[in-house]
Amino acid sequence: MKTAQILAWMLSGAIATTAASSKYTEDDESIVVDVAPDFLRPYVLPKYRGHAIKLTQTQTIRFSITANSSDGAFALIQHNGKNSGWLSSRPHAHHLVHEHFYCARGRVQLWGQKNVTNATDEARVGTPGDYGNIPPDTIHTFQLIEPDSQLTHVFHPGGFEHLFDVYSLGGFDTSTISSPYPAVPGDDNPLGGAPTPQEKVLLAGLDLYVASEETYIPRRDFVNGTAGDKSLNWHNGANTLPNDPTEPYFVAKDYGSKYLNSENGYKVIQPLATPEQVTGGNFSMGTIIMSPKLHNQSSSTATLPHHFALQMEDGQLVLSVSGYDTVSLIQGDVAFIPSGIPFMYHATVPFTKFMYMNAGAEGLDHQLLKNSVAWDFPAYPNA
Ligand SMILES: *[C@@H]1O[C@H](CO)[C@@H](O)[C@H](O)[C@H]1NC(C)=O
Ligand SMILES: *[C@@H]1O[C@H](CO)[C@@H](O)[C@H](O)[C@H]1NC(C)=O
Ligand SMILES: *[C@@H]1O[C@H](CO)[C@@H](O)[C@H](O)[C@H]1NC(C)=O
Ligand SMILES: *[C@@H]1O[C@H](CO)[C@@H](O)[C@H](O)[C@H]1NC(C)=O
Ligand SMILES: *[C@@H]1O[C@H](CO)[C@@H](O)[C@H](O)[C@H]1NC(C)=O
Ligand SMILES: *[C@@H]1O[C@H](CO)[C@@H](O)[C@H](O)[C@H]1NC(C)=O
Repeated sequence: MKTAQILAWMLSGAIATTAASSKYTEDDESIVVDVAPDFLRPYVLPKYRGHAIKLTQTQTIRFSITANSSDGAFALIQHNGKNSGWLSSRPHAHHLVHEHFYCARGRVQLWGQKNVTNATDEARVGTPGDYGNIPPDTIHTFQLIEPDSQLTHVFHPGGFEHLFDVYSLGGFDTSTISSPYPAVPGDDNPLGGAPTPQEKVLLAGLDLYVASEETYIPRRDFVNGTAGDKSLNWHNGANTLPNDPTEPYFVAKDYGSKYLNSENGYKVIQPLATPEQVTGGNFSMGTIIMSPKLHNQSSSTATLPHHFALQMEDGQLVLSVSGYDTVSLIQGDVAFIPSGIPFMYHATVPFTKFMYMNAGAEGLDHQLLKNSVAWDFPAYPNA
């Protein structure tokens, strides 16, 4: 795009707004899609839409960002269901894929143990906003424990999500009323014991290695939502990020590092994983809380060198991607913007919050942190 075109687009930006969540179209011109595209392009996938499958009789997986839609960089799925009474997966490790958990609704139990001698099995009860970092070769599993639970998973590189097409009980229709999950009674644990030799081969091809019951049984001795190294805080003190991309860790909502950027209204940035904590050093994720745009402020602008995505958590964000219509995003909406494409964004209501993902070390967080100060609150100043 030529400079003059970008300028014209920036001047015209943020006038027409359409609600991503209510406008639901197959119009090629729209940034709003009804399924994650098979190729790299900017898109907004509204809350609870997109390709989805039944993982069990009462649990769903929705594919918001896929290897195809991110050109292989990363994947984002939402896992919804009710309290099950059993683990959603047999304890396992990946050898290549780095996985991130983010509790988005209800409560979930999370386990992570580095697969080395004498490592501690760290277990947490996660409530919305809680985060877990699971590097390759970390044995992990998870369980939904409230009637309306949602665990968000991020995988990088992308591709691992294909496993849920293989382990599918069939498609789940999200095109009309899109319930979070099938509202049916019961649901017995569909997972048997150890995988058969054939299943092991299939799973290894998908980068999943089941931990045998002889070597790993998830601990259940939670006290105040945590079990493991007693020196680690859980909702009772700071969580610091390790300087080691092979180390699993958990961060409780609002107990990690916080930074305040005041360039264009306020942004409170809370990194959950930086390039220092991830395999390959080329991914980052965290959350940003924004103040609403005042009449005398302008939208924030960015053109990032890596693919960027966000999942809305609170408030309302107006997003304008160069070449596309401007949209308003609400809780649950997902936006994906390929590298090099300029975009503008602002909040319309106080305390607008999203989770961000960057496929590289110089993403949105990196740009904002250059002009930020250490900050003690998940709240911005009131003036
Ligand atoms: C990725 O896109 C290709 C080309 O459109 C398609 O054939 C393939 O099925 C897609 N893969 C997945 C997992 O959707
Ligand atoms: C594991 O712990 C045991 C018991 O404390 C100790 O004897 C052993 O040296 C440890 N092994 C390693 C590899 O740290
Ligand atoms: C854990 O490490 C051991 C020793 O390298 C290996 O035999 C085992 O398969 C690993 N477990 C998983 C679940 O990857
Ligand atoms: C659990 O939390 C309560 C209330 O904050 C506290 O008094 C108690 O010491 C905690 N227990 C442990 C084992 O940390
Ligand atoms: C990130 O680094 C890994 C390991 O070097 C590499 O396989 C992957 O392609 C990189 N991803 C991106 C998006 O650059
Ligand atoms: C912008 O507007 C707000 C609210 O009307 C006001 O408090 C603030 O001083 C203004 N800032 C500037 C730089 O004019």
